[in-house]
Amino acid sequence: MKSTNQLILSELRDDHRNMAIILDLLEETAATTKAGNDPDFLLIEEIMRYMMVYADAVHHPKEDLIFAELQTHRPDLAEGLDDVPEDHWLIAALGTRLRSDVDAIIAGAAVRREQLIGDIKQYVKRLRSHMHWEEDDLFPRVDKMIAEDPHGIDVGDSLRIKDPVFEPEIESAFRRVMASLQDR
Ligand SMILES: [Fe+2]
Ligand SMILES: [Fe+2]
Repeated sequence: MKSTNQLILSELRDDHRNMAIILDLLEETAATTKAGNDPDFLLIEEIMRYMMVYADAVHHPKEDLIFAELQTHRPDLAEGLDDVPEDHWLIAALGTRLRSDVDAIIAGAAVRREQLIGDIKQYVKRLRSHMHWEEDDLFPRVDKMIAEDPHGIDVGDSLRIKDPVFEPEIESAFRRVMASLQDR
């Protein structure tokens, strides 16, 4: 049976698999835009709303917590590790920029296609490389801490929230994203 700590780590890895699928979907919208067609702006808006309510509000804070645990309990294992909360802050800022592009388009404002494509690409690239870095560097260090010192990590109730697209508990507010995933 997995310990709570192992469960947290396996949830984070599941989130990454799901987020990778969402990033592919977002990247496809940029390709549509580049081909001269209008993408489904409401889908982009939904994707970015999902990233805000789940990745920025649940997934990243959980990682900030395990990063803090590592620094406190095993500073030797945290040596040379990049600053996790700072990276999360930068990703959230890129997400906010992309959300304001798409909100403006939906509201009828003129936003250049190149700006939207550029902001989508930057967001996807940054988050992808961040997740790879976590899987290659951060997570193995945390695995080692857990294996050698099985003290509990308390993520608190506020972070025990299910993924609203991949594990919806109530009628999802992310219908377009879910329908697009089914079409793939
Ligand atoms: Fe992260
Ligand atoms: Fe992550």
